[in-house]
Amino acid sequence: MSEKNVSHTRWMKRAIFLASLGKNTTSPNPRVGAVILDKNGNLISEGFHYKAGMPHAEAMASENLNKDANGGTMYVNLEPCCHHGRTPPCVDKIISSGIKKVYISILDPDKRVSGKGIQLLKEAGIQVHVGLCEKESLALNKAFIHRNITKKAFGVLKWAMSIDGRIGLKNGESKWITNEESRSLVHTFRAEFDAIIIGGNTLRKDNPLLTTRGSKNPEPLRVVFTKSLDLPSKSNLWDCDKAKTLVIYDSSTANESYLTRIPKCVEVEKVSSDDPNLIAKILAKRGCNKVLWECGPRLATAAVQSNCIQEIITFIAPKILGGVDSMNPFGDFEFEEMNKIIKLSDSQVSLIGNDICVKSSFKN
Ligand SMILES: NC(=O)c1ccc[n+]([C@@H]2O[C@H](COP(=O)([O-])OP(=O)(O)OC[C@H]3O[C@@H](n4cnc5c(N)ncnc54)[C@H](OP(=O)(O)O)[C@@H]3O)[C@@H](O)[C@H]2O)c1
Repeated sequence: MSEKNVSHTRWMKRAIFLASLGKNTTSPNPRVGAVILDKNGNLISEGFHYKAGMPHAEAMASENLNKDANGGTMYVNLEPCCHHGRTPPCVDKIISSGIKKVYISILDPDKRVSGKGIQLLKEAGIQVHVGLCEKESLALNKAFIHRNITKKAFGVLKWAMSIDGRIGLKNGESKWITNEESRSLVHTFRAEFDAIIIGGNTLRKDNPLLTTRGSKNPEPLRVVFTKSLDLPSKSNLWDCDKAKTLVIYDSSTANESYLTRIPKCVEVEKVSSDDPNLIAKILAKRGCNKVLWECGPRLATAAVQSNCIQEIITFIAPKILGGVDSMNPFGDFEFEEMNKIIKLSDSQVSLIGNDICVKSSFKN
């Protein structure tokens, strides 16, 4: 790589780093960072997008200039917008600042606008280069891109299990399989998500809190998917001061008289079947880019079968629960040939004290 390319890569990496500062806060928007150099290649401004409704990275960088940007260069990890949303178009800001070169890592995934930002910059006489650090930029915004393309929220399925692959005893007892460190890691890791989903049975059995314990404000939306609506009248999820809760129920099977058990502060939405895709679509419409499925085996199996899960994260404790009837992370996928089983990729393994944490991706 030439010295010039090394320096372009360095500045794009800086833009990507800035973008990552909005990791837990930008939904439904993407994570974007921008860097501006003057015509002599000196850094004169930078910015990142923090939250929807707040300035975009390019606008923030254009406003923070400590020197004239005329003839300068911008590095930005996502194609600048060219439409009026909650804030004015970024291309206008770039053009009026006198910037003459723009390095863009990846195009906007929204097909209606994709390429148009670049076209407008070119029409204004700005040199545009696309593709620098593409892999890193795609990884940083994979959930935003997934939601835009599929209209479904990017799903991560998380479970905790023993080394013999059990998530609980035959009688349903499962507290606690993993160590305290793993469990507190889960609390902070929830901050990356816009919503956390469980099924009605996990609510009945575990009465979980499903919060980040204060790492994110507001807390992620807590979602319960139920076919029966047979939910208890007392539950940690009904405490709306801690976090918002949404109950989604299948109106084809639910007993709607149970609705009276749910307090008014909890939002309720009905759907026409028990298809997990409906959840992923409702949450995407609400602006959730990335959602965490913390459900038990039955809903987890249905979510995997309906392509609602893109990644898994499992915490494995060096403990043996044993028992043919102990709970597994999944139900039966009814595979009859080994070449039909689900194969995951891109595994990352880490040690959390004595526990092992494995992250892997689905190929769908
Ligand atoms: N170790 C772990 O990581 C972990 C994580 C989560 C849960 N668990 C354990 O898992 C057990 C619960 O397992 P579970 O499989 O019953 O989990 P679940 O998370 O409650 O999911 C099943 C429930 O989801 C609802 N549902 C909606 N659509 C569905 C669909 N298409 N398919 C299946 N269910 C659908 C139903 O609720 P309704 O019955 O209300 O209609 C159903 O009973 C608990 O004992 C809990 O402790 C362990």
